[in-house]
Amino acid sequence: MQASAKKVVVLGTGGTIAGVARDRGDTLGYTAGVIPIRDLLANVAVSADLELVAEQVMQLDSKDMNESAWCAILQRCRFWLAQDDVGALVITHGTDTLEETAFFLDAALPPDKPVVLTCAMRPASALVPDGPQNLADAIVLAKGLGEGGVYVVCAGLVHQACDVQKVHTDRLDAFDSGDPGPWGAIVAGQIRKYGRGHGPKVTIDPDIVERTAPQNWPRVEIVFNHAGADGALIAAMLEPAADSRKVAGIVVAATGNGTVSNGLESALLAAQGRGVRVVRSTRCARGSVTPVPGARVPDSRGLSPVKARIALMLELLGGHWFTSQQ
Ligand code: SIN
Repeated sequence: MQASAKKVVVLGTGGTIAGVARDRGDTLGYTAGVIPIRDLLANVAVSADLELVAEQVMQLDSKDMNESAWCAILQRCRFWLAQDDVGALVITHGTDTLEETAFFLDAALPPDKPVVLTCAMRPASALVPDGPQNLADAIVLAKGLGEGGVYVVCAGLVHQACDVQKVHTDRLDAFDSGDPGPWGAIVAGQIRKYGRGHGPKVTIDPDIVERTAPQNWPRVEIVFNHAGADGALIAAMLEPAADSRKVAGIVVAATGNGTVSNGLESALLAAQGRGVRVVRSTRCARGSVTPVPGARVPDSRGLSPVKARIALMLELLGGHWFTSQQ
């Protein structure tokens, strides 16, 4: 069967794309994750020769996304991708943690078929919602791509999971791919590839996430360096309440090229000395930490703080953290 003749499966997970407000003019005071994926698809024109299958995996506001939800999505992705007659997946998702789910799936899924996440900045009930166009564009990409990997489609642009980041609170084009730039665009139903390189990628043993229940995954926290940061938070983290999981890793969203205050650095080195894995990323929206000789805390190999957190969690689970910068 030709790749383009295969089914596209659309998994609904919630988000603003499935959100509803009481008033059609209200694009902020809505509830995310209400409209079923079948109903969202009913508003999208697709080519007559395409067979679409819809499945509602969950209905979440993605601010509440967590490791258990990732595993539930991963399990459904693996199920559908293993079917010979399925060519690609589309996943509808909230914008707020979309880059984290995309990055996790990119690390955990086989790379042979496309998986395209999409979203919306306005609820489905808005006078002019952006979700239907984003969903239509995501389906175009999924059907026509012909190569594997995890992508994000929003506002006509296509981003790769390794690069994409939400950078705006309210603009319809809320995502950016940093220095590598977007992978491409969807223009009038056509895929336009810009052919840009991509940033760091993590690859893991496919079984790694199944060996440990998500609630027992290593706890990795993110701390910021900021004016006045003195490291006291790290000391508190290392002495958790009896009923909470011990911190196994810390990602520091450092200033500039990975710098931290003297107080925070001492606290991080003390944590390292106690066996906690510490990784330095940057709080800068663009660029990444360039390693300098003699650094005592390893850098995040190009990953943003939230993605470095996922990579470190997967590594602590026993995975391998391979990154490549092209
Ligand atoms: C969410 O992330 O689920 C809500 C916000 C959004 O989708 O824009």
